[in-house]
Amino acid sequence: MSETQTQNTQQAQAGLQDLIASNSSICYIDGPNCHLVYRGYQIEDLAQHSHFEEVVYLLLFGKMPNQKELQQFSNELASDRTVPDSVLKLLKAFPKKAHPMAVLRTMISILSFYDKEDNSVAYEENFKKAMSIIAKAGTIIAAWDRIRQGKKPIAPDPKLTYAEDFLRMVLGKKPDELYAKSLDLYLILLADHEFNASTFACRVTGSTLSDYYSAITSAVGVLKGPLHGGANEQVIKMIMEIGDKDKVQDYIEKALANKKKIMGFGHRVYKVKDPRSPILKDMAREVSEKKEDLKIFRMSEQIESLLAERYKNLPPNVDFYSASLLYNIGIPTDLFTPIFVMSRLAGWSAHYLEQISDNRLIRPRANYTGLSNLVYTPIQQR
Ligand SMILES: CC(C)(COP(=O)(O)OP(=O)(O)OC[C@H]1O[C@@H](n2cnc3c(N)ncnc32)[C@H](O)[C@@H]1OP(=O)(O)O)[C@@H](O)C(=O)NCCC(=O)NCCS
Repeated sequence: MSETQTQNTQQAQAGLQDLIASNSSICYIDGPNCHLVYRGYQIEDLAQHSHFEEVVYLLLFGKMPNQKELQQFSNELASDRTVPDSVLKLLKAFPKKAHPMAVLRTMISILSFYDKEDNSVAYEENFKKAMSIIAKAGTIIAAWDRIRQGKKPIAPDPKLTYAEDFLRMVLGKKPDELYAKSLDLYLILLADHEFNASTFACRVTGSTLSDYYSAITSAVGVLKGPLHGGANEQVIKMIMEIGDKDKVQDYIEKALANKKKIMGFGHRVYKVKDPRSPILKDMAREVSEKKEDLKIFRMSEQIESLLAERYKNLPPNVDFYSASLLYNIGIPTDLFTPIFVMSRLAGWSAHYLEQISDNRLIRPRANYTGLSNLVYTPIQQR
């Protein structure tokens, strides 16, 4: 037999683009028409009328709550924000330079040690775990931010909304109303996005009947990448590196000439417009005006115009204006992606529950492009 190159008849689609991987009733995206829908509700309506706790309910239960259901749900979520002292002690032992995304990834995994039913995949247990992790993520991120600065973590206040309380725990004071509203809006807009890379990772892990904590830990690791959720931090780094509005054009032209990707632009599904981006842009403008500091926002607009002049199909994505929004409400830049996690935990949890409720192991095939029929030669003769 001679050495050959094997080719399957079926070709792989690079990056699984446009592949339908499963049925799902959680989130609908119409890329060409720029629509994003959670459980039947348009994102624009949710952004205008809803708030994060209600959206979490909607994603987890598949329906809008009535007043009583929402009150009870929000109270449960708020009372779950407290993190055990032993967990805070662990945080204190971490190296202060650890990135908050790495800390959060580790802590979600560690929280499984404190759950007697950590391996159970029964619906009620999974639901409890989801409530606990969604609620605690903000507390952990805020605590880490203070611990690394040598400060004492601030305990959660269940009387506040999730967004208000998180800002209070990070900034050390009751937040400005507009800033809390803008963070709430951000959390609504990023709560789910169909079969994005991290959600898919969560579902793949879930499909092995591995536990909720493992699935969410996988998802956090995937979101961390700069082509996915890590892009928001990279956007602000880029703007800081540019430094001034007079340097924007030169920087962008050089970057494009060197085939460098401009963070916060482009999307696998949206080629015309990411429907979340204009909503975030309006809010970023409002927050910058309130802060009376439009520098970052104006530079962002300049970058958007330059890209629009050159490319028809490279619109700003959800991470572009969220960077100036989060920056202007005073969030440290390396907390941007962990805040994305705080929001997307709702979607990941809904997808994990959906996957487990009608499970089949996710196990695709590869189109093998390697060699075949090689003859094994003993090592002494190689
Ligand atoms: C999101 C992203 C990963 C989608 O990737 P994709 O669907 O695989 O598209 P590709 O990376 O194949 O890009 C297609 C073309 O557009 C170009 N392109 C895509 N995003 C670009 C960007 N942000 N800046 C400059 N060029 C970009 C690619 O270089 C490629 O050009 P080519 O055909 O000449 O090689 C990609 O647009 C990207 O890397 N964006 C920056 C990171 C980011 O903001 N991520 C957050 C996503 S919400």
